[in-house]
Amino acid sequence: MKRLIPTLRADNVPLELIMVIRTILAASKEISFRVSQGALSGILGSSLDENIQGETQKKLDILSNQLLKDILLSSPDVRAIASEEEDDVVAGIEDAPYIVAFDPLDGSSNIDINGQIGTIFTIYAARDDVPADSPLQFAQPGTAQLAAGYVLYGPSTLLVLTTGGPTRLYTLDQTHGGYLLTQDEMEIEPDTAEFAINMSNQRFWNQDTQAYINQLIAGETGPRGKRFNMRWNGAMVGDVHRVLQRGGIFLYPSDTKNPGQPSKLRLLYEANPMAMLVENAGGKAVTGEDRILDIMPSDLHQRVPVIMGAANEVDEFVNTKA
Ligand code: AHG
Ligand code: MN
Ligand code: MN
Ligand code: MN
Repeated sequence: MKRLIPTLRADNVPLELIMVIRTILAASKEISFRVSQGALSGILGSSLDENIQGETQKKLDILSNQLLKDILLSSPDVRAIASEEEDDVVAGIEDAPYIVAFDPLDGSSNIDINGQIGTIFTIYAARDDVPADSPLQFAQPGTAQLAAGYVLYGPSTLLVLTTGGPTRLYTLDQTHGGYLLTQDEMEIEPDTAEFAINMSNQRFWNQDTQAYINQLIAGETGPRGKRFNMRWNGAMVGDVHRVLQRGGIFLYPSDTKNPGQPSKLRLLYEANPMAMLVENAGGKAVTGEDRILDIMPSDLHQRVPVIMGAANEVDEFVNTKA
């Protein structure tokens, strides 16, 4: 089986970029080990702290953030980092070529139930026209991402990665500690009969979204003329991984649940990397109005509606009006 580094080299990924990916993955292996040890490694439960978005941080949110932060800031190739668990941009090495944004631990509510969780990351070229610690380092649209990926800590630890070419799947070989290529090109079929959405938010959606979901659950006698199945992991990494493996559509649409927030998921370190992975597997990713990858970020922790997955189904969502 092909190993990660030779695969990246064959894809002509620049050496320094490979080094940054390796650095992120070194932290992921440590997180994976701690997760597999569960209560034995003292990682379960909550801390007493909140992040800038008002979420109570779990112990594993803090630990994963610290592991990634420490290792990335000691890399000679990283000029700055941004994280869900850091209020501001943190500067690394002046003149280093890359910046990295990450969601250190996605699916925090799954930690204590032994459910699917993951780490999401994205790498951009550093900007020379703004200081290393400026939030403007990350004012780049998702189309400028040089690499995007996630590590899923499930029954197996998996890496899903794109460096601009295909979306590839690697499996962590716990016996020798390396990621091995186990699926060369992931591909999302354009049609599907499976959707993922948090139905408890129904009353907060707009009329068009309500109409779309009503059509799906109307089944074979409804306007779509077929039965749809629903799945919800409560962790974007798990839900989008299912879409990448067996098709489907994932939605965290526009809602009015929290005043001043268009929806729940964050553009920089959740929506953008997942959108790049989905598009490079033949799927689509939109907010309902715009292609996610075209959005120019206005804030580090900006939230956006997310609809991604099977291309024809994403089109159906966009075209369905109440
Ligand atoms: P995080 O754990 O990084 O804060 O992200 C949680 C996100 C995402 O993983 C998931 O899709 C969504 O929250 C789940 O939201 P619900 O609580 O509405 O299920
Ligand atoms: Mn969180
Ligand atoms: Mn998340
Ligand atoms: Mn998180």
